[in-house]
Amino acid sequence: MLKDQDRIFTNIYGMHERTLKGAMSRGHWDGTAGIIQKGRDWIIDEMKASGLRGRGGAGFPTGLKWSFMPKESDGRPSYLVVNADESEPGTCKDREIMRHDPHTLIEGCLIASFAMNAHACYIYLRGEYIREREALQAAIDEAYDAGLLGKNAAGSGYDFDLYLHHGAGAYICGEETALIESLEGKKGMPRMKPPFPAGAGLYGCPTTVNNVESIAVVPTILRRGASWFSGFGRQNNAGTKLFAISGHVNNPCVVEEEMSISFEELIEKHCGGIRGGWDNLLAVIPGGSSVPCVRGEKMKDAIMDFDYLRGELGSGLGTAAVIVMDKSTDIIKAIWRLSKFYKHESCGQCTPCREGTGWMMRVMERLVQGNASVEEIDMLFNVTKQVEGHTICALGDAAAWPIQGLIRNFRDVIEDRVNGKSIAAE
Ligand code: NAI
Ligand code: SF4
Repeated sequence: MLKDQDRIFTNIYGMHERTLKGAMSRGHWDGTAGIIQKGRDWIIDEMKASGLRGRGGAGFPTGLKWSFMPKESDGRPSYLVVNADESEPGTCKDREIMRHDPHTLIEGCLIASFAMNAHACYIYLRGEYIREREALQAAIDEAYDAGLLGKNAAGSGYDFDLYLHHGAGAYICGEETALIESLEGKKGMPRMKPPFPAGAGLYGCPTTVNNVESIAVVPTILRRGASWFSGFGRQNNAGTKLFAISGHVNNPCVVEEEMSISFEELIEKHCGGIRGGWDNLLAVIPGGSSVPCVRGEKMKDAIMDFDYLRGELGSGLGTAAVIVMDKSTDIIKAIWRLSKFYKHESCGQCTPCREGTGWMMRVMERLVQGNASVEEIDMLFNVTKQVEGHTICALGDAAAWPIQGLIRNFRDVIEDRVNGKSIAAE
């Protein structure tokens, strides 16, 4: 189990002052100018060596992503955009950072922007996050007043401005190119990639979009050193990580733990066990609603990292939003509810997603009621395969994968339903 002194987030539960004074007393903003003065190449090399993989769900190596940004300006400004649109069902970790530890994010914005030669950074905040906006804006104002932002930020000799932009509550605006469109004042619709944002992003300029947690861990990694961070977890799955555990555990929580911790240890140490005991565990969605669910018995010994969950269990770590379901759950109905969510949130610009999400949801609705034939289970699986990989953005995949996980893992439960051996939960 991670020791307290190795936790990056020292105020995740809001037990201490989130003000600048409180943040500084916990070590934030310590030697920021010195880090910046080590130079861009040193920062990017250190981030690569740390092994940090993006914490927004996809797990793309952060240092590598930063290295795609142009070293010399071609006349266009560069931008950092922080994706704080956290809207994945089950995911609520960035919320805790912004509510209780906003200064670690702000300091990270300055250092990361410097590394990528960006003099401006936008934090794009989820529309429903009102209290988080207030906390973050208050912290940004404090940082400006203290000279940590603006001209000669933190005494580093670097000019840097930070803007908070509040979204309007559309899930798709968490997709990085839809987010950029929305920031530009347009309807939030994903763009085709490539070009990736580093080539043409905000206002057609070089842009890196990073998740809140990915940026908030940067100052501590650089203060303590890449080898300190990479000493946690396993190879290719390094560091500490915020896990957001919800559902049928005795004590749902957000907790920072070592990457590659076992599922059993995570649940026993931090959540007081599964409601009704381990024999009562039905299923787990280990990484937020867009990764496939896994049968409970396969999860007990699971290692909570990118490579194990994908390679061994055909699921994923995603955002590390762990949704636990006990045997009181109607698993078909639970996955149907996700189908309804994705249908509602599809932006509608590509046909497989626009039509497919509605189609999949309606078949799922009939499966919940048992009003379908066994053959339709395979037909539904085939339709998910027609959607997966055939759309502009990952929402199409995200709509397909939970259903694939259900059919792979719980085919017997679906067959019982359509054969009249069980009924839908109320
Ligand atoms: P992605 O794998 O397409 O891209 C990940 C990042 O790497 C992006 O910033 C992309 O620009 C960059 N990238 C990838 N290949 C690149 C290349 N060849 N050159 C340059 N840059 C490259 O994944 P995406 O669509 O950005 O994210 C999908 C994930 O987001 C899902 O797996 C899901 O877990 C997560 N998600 C998280 C949500 C949240 O609330 N945090 C909401 C919805 C989804
Ligand atoms: Fe829009 Fe869905 Fe296509 Fe993404 S996959 S661009 S959400 S229609």
